[in-house]
Amino acid sequence: MTTSSDKTVTAVAHTNIALIKYWGKQNPELIIPYTGSLSLTLDQFYTQTSVTFNANLDKDQITIDGQPVTGKSGQRVHNFLSIVRQESGIDLNAQVKSTNHVPTAAGLASSASAFAALAAAASKAAGMNLSLTDLSRLARRGSGSACRSIFGGFVEWRKGSDDTNSYAIPVETTHLNDIRIVALTIEKHQKPISSREGMALSVTTSPYYPTWVKVVEADLENIKAAIQDDDFTRFGTISELNAMRMHALTLSADPDFLYFNGDTLTAMNEVKRLRHSGIECYYTIDAGPNIKVICQQANVQTITDTFSNLFGPTKVTVAKPGPGVKYL
Ligand code: DP6
Repeated sequence: MTTSSDKTVTAVAHTNIALIKYWGKQNPELIIPYTGSLSLTLDQFYTQTSVTFNANLDKDQITIDGQPVTGKSGQRVHNFLSIVRQESGIDLNAQVKSTNHVPTAAGLASSASAFAALAAAASKAAGMNLSLTDLSRLARRGSGSACRSIFGGFVEWRKGSDDTNSYAIPVETTHLNDIRIVALTIEKHQKPISSREGMALSVTTSPYYPTWVKVVEADLENIKAAIQDDDFTRFGTISELNAMRMHALTLSADPDFLYFNGDTLTAMNEVKRLRHSGIECYYTIDAGPNIKVICQQANVQTITDTFSNLFGPTKVTVAKPGPGVKYL
């Protein structure tokens, strides 16, 4: 069936930082994770994407920040568009124009905002009118963490067991609303091992993987309780621990690998030093060398001053809780 449509739809999605990490798929094709996860959507980093399905295109045309996208990344977007075509019944090629306001592949999970914005724009341009839950399910097929970027604030990804029941839901709360994430961009280069490859290697080779699956379920329950109790200390402690448990899976994989560099360790030590001096803060780290410092508004100035002195002011960005996906 050829459904005619030249409607251009533009969507904006913000990235999210996981406090309880997603690290491993029980179904790689459908992107069903082994564990649930929990994140905070951030106001500072986002992707804006426009999609038009057009009968005059002989193939999908994809640009990111004005540059044509080819190779692995292009294939990933093309595969995602094919899922949208299959689910909507449209059989036209698409023009996709995406602009990232995220340090790409610098550990700020740009694939989360990218696939959340693409899912929203492409599904609507294809004539679908999905609920937020179905949008979350669709975004998950592009990148697991993207399913959480459909919603703002604190978000839980319920792992589920198949395509119908693996999606994110917002954590309804007014607590911890003075939370801030001070993002330190230690390195902007592409990471040598993508999160997709890294988690697959951890699942298949780390002897600790089964323990991780058990521990995450407890971490998830405990962090949700900390949010409900408005308990920042417990919230930060669990976040830092969970991140380090994830990175232990990279060190124990075969072959082993590590996302940290020397500056990552310097920043980790600095967070601990600040904490011991009475400035309460914690760190979390994704699949890259960059650090996100979790703190409250009252300590933002001291923390940004400290890291600006260490790494330079251009490397430090303060983020607040951000909104869910929007259409322009
Ligand atoms: C460390 O969502 O990028 O940021 O599903 O393979 O696209 P794919 O992986 P991705 O992994 C994110 C890993 C993480 C933790 C997290 O965001 O939960």
